Amino acid sequence: RFAYVNGRYVRHADAAVHIDDRGFLFADAVYEVCQIRHGFIVDLTRHLDRLDRSLGEIRIRPPMPRAALVGIMKEVLRRNRVSDGMVYLQVTRGTARRDHVFPSPEVRASLVVTAKSLSASVAAEKYASGIKAVTVPDNRWERVDIKTVGLLPNVLARQQAKEAGAQEAIFVDAEGNVTEGGATNLWIVDKAGRLVTRPADRAILRGITRTTLMDVAAKLGIAVEERRFSVAEMLEAREVFVTGATTICLPVVAIDGHAIANGHPGLTAQKLRDAFFAVAE
Ligand code: PDD
Repeated sequence: RFAYVNGRYVRHADAAVHIDDRGFLFADAVYEVCQIRHGFIVDLTRHLDRLDRSLGEIRIRPPMPRAALVGIMKEVLRRNRVSDGMVYLQVTRGTARRDHVFPSPEVRASLVVTAKSLSASVAAEKYASGIKAVTVPDNRWERVDIKTVGLLPNVLARQQAKEAGAQEAIFVDAEGNVTEGGATNLWIVDKAGRLVTRPADRAILRGITRTTLMDVAAKLGIAVEERRFSVAEMLEAREVFVTGATTICLPVVAIDGHAIANGHPGLTAQKLRDAFFAVAE
């Protein structure tokens, strides 16, 4: 395997950043994960637009023009022979002697790009069985709309889920409303049969898969309602599913030990997933 690190393609085993890299020291960095499907980067423009927004929100200058970045992503995919899988990219504020304030004079941003293949059969098994989840208090900062690598709360939540025999953690805000998953956005089909997800305020990441799924729903004639919903409403829902770049649209069949509906994946999630790649770009 190969990775791109600050201007070089290196063997994955040797790929490293400096100990003074601000991504390492402060999580002073943003990232993107894109799905690769049949050799194409799914929703590339939307991912790059969000990267630009994340960089702008934390005031990191883009490391290079977009076309050059795309060239590197494609080269990493080619060198790793990935045609179905994912590409990861991370931009940090760069390397400088440890000091909380931005380096002055400004240093060059660091860029790391990696890629890996993902098994379609493993994904198919998950879609068929659905996953379990647990709820956890959302103790993250107030700007989780920025896709930063500061993911410690997400790491701890997902570990808690794993130790409870589940595959995703569902964050719940102080009002008892669901925000999102540990690495996914969350959707329900409510008791009235409406497809519902939380509005993309600063309390969730505006997922690219979430945005594209709205296009998919529109194409299928399924109305989407953006509103907050409680844990109680989620547990009573007809369906619950999560969306993200690597999972697309994955049913949740049990939460905190309660079965959702009949405990099997729902039809809406399946319809949306089946139509997804005809709509995604
Ligand atoms: N996670 N919410 C959070 C907290 C996420 O980390 C992610 C993505 C999403 C879904 O966003 P998108 O549809 O753009 O992937 C929502 C990525 C995949 C990760 O951290 O691996």
